[in-house]
Amino acid sequence: MKVLGLESSCDETGIAILDVESGEMFQRLYSQIECHREYGGVVPELASRDHVAKAAPMIMDVVEEAGGINELDGIVYTRGPGLMGALMVGACIARAIAWALDKPVLGVHHMEGHLLAPMLSDDKPEFPFIALLVSGGHTMLVDVHAMGQYKILGESLDDAVGEAFDKTAKLLGLPYPGGPELASLAATISSTELRFPRPMVDRPGLDFSFSGLKTFALNTIHKHSPLSDQSRAEIALAFEQAVVDTLQIKCKRALKQTGYSRLVVAGGVGANQSLRKRLQVMTKDLGARVYFPALEYCTDNGAMIAYAGGLRMAAGLKDVDVTDVLPRWSLEDLTGLN
Ligand code: KG4
Ligand code: ZN
Repeated sequence: MKVLGLESSCDETGIAILDVESGEMFQRLYSQIECHREYGGVVPELASRDHVAKAAPMIMDVVEEAGGINELDGIVYTRGPGLMGALMVGACIARAIAWALDKPVLGVHHMEGHLLAPMLSDDKPEFPFIALLVSGGHTMLVDVHAMGQYKILGESLDDAVGEAFDKTAKLLGLPYPGGPELASLAATISSTELRFPRPMVDRPGLDFSFSGLKTFALNTIHKHSPLSDQSRAEIALAFEQAVVDTLQIKCKRALKQTGYSRLVVAGGVGANQSLRKRLQVMTKDLGARVYFPALEYCTDNGAMIAYAGGLRMAAGLKDVDVTDVLPRWSLEDLTGLN
C-alpha cells in the first residue's frame, strides 16, 4: 500500500510517499523559518499562507518521483494538534486529492508521528517503551504499550521544553528558532560555575515545569549585563545543563516506575546532542536502551505522518465523514490497531 502523507501543523511543509510494505519512501521538506524569522516566532496566518503556496508543487514533485498519482492507495494528513489554519490547509488538500482519486483519507495525530519516528530507522525499538516527546509545543513522558495505546505519565504544567529553549535564546539575542542556536552557543565552552535550578525534581511524579527557567535566565542576564560573549555562552550552557538534567532524571524515574527497558526520544529537542549523550549514559547504567529518530526525523516532517497514517490505513482505518481538524488533541484519545 502506498500512502501520501502531508504534515502542515506548524512551520514545516512535509510531504512523503511511503510504501508501507517495502518501506520505500520519497519525500520533500520545506521549512518556513526564513518567513517567520523577522517576527521572532511563528506567525500563524503567514504559516497557513505559506503552506498553501508550497504544498501543491511539492506534492506534484514527489508524486512524479514516486511513479505517478495512480500509484497512491490513500492520503494521510496531520489532523492535530497544531495551528488551526495551518492544519486546515493540509486537511483541505488531503481531502481534495482523496476525493479526486476516490481513495481513502485519514487524519493523523502529530505526536503519534513523532513518537513512531524512530521506527523509520533500521534499528527499531520494540513495544512497550517509554517515549519522551520534547517539541516546541509539547513535553511529555508517555507509556507506549503498543501502537495507539498511550498513557501520558507526565507533562509540562507550563512551557514546553522547546518553547523554553526558544524563549531563553531570544533573551540571549539569538535568532528564531533559538533551540539549536542556544545549543551551538553552549557547545562553544565546556564548563561553567553558573547553576540553574532543576525544576520539580524534588517532588514525586513525572510532570515538568520550565517557565521558571526562563525567568531565572532573565534574572541571570540582568545580573551579568552588559553580557560578554563568555557570559552569554555560560548562561546558554547552564540553561541547557538544567534542562538536560531535569529530563534525564524524569526519564530514569519513568523507566524505573514501569520496569521498561526501552526509551524513545522524539520531537525537535530530541536533536539536542547533550540530551542524547546524557540519555545514552543513563540508560546504559540502568541496563536499558535509548532510541532516537534520525536527525532529519526529529523535527517536523512528512515521513513520520506517512508512517503513522500508513500503518493505520493498512489496518483498515479511514475517515468516514468529513472531520474537523483538532488543534488540541490528546494522545490518550487514540485507539489501538486490531
Ligand atoms: O518537533 P518540532 O520540530 O516542532 C514542534 O512540533 O514543535 O520542535 C521544534 C522545537 C523548537 O522549539 C526548537 O527550538 C527545538 O525543537 N529544537 C532544539 C534543537 N533542535 C530543535 N532544542 C534544543 N536543541 C536542539 N538541537
Ligand atoms: Zn512536531
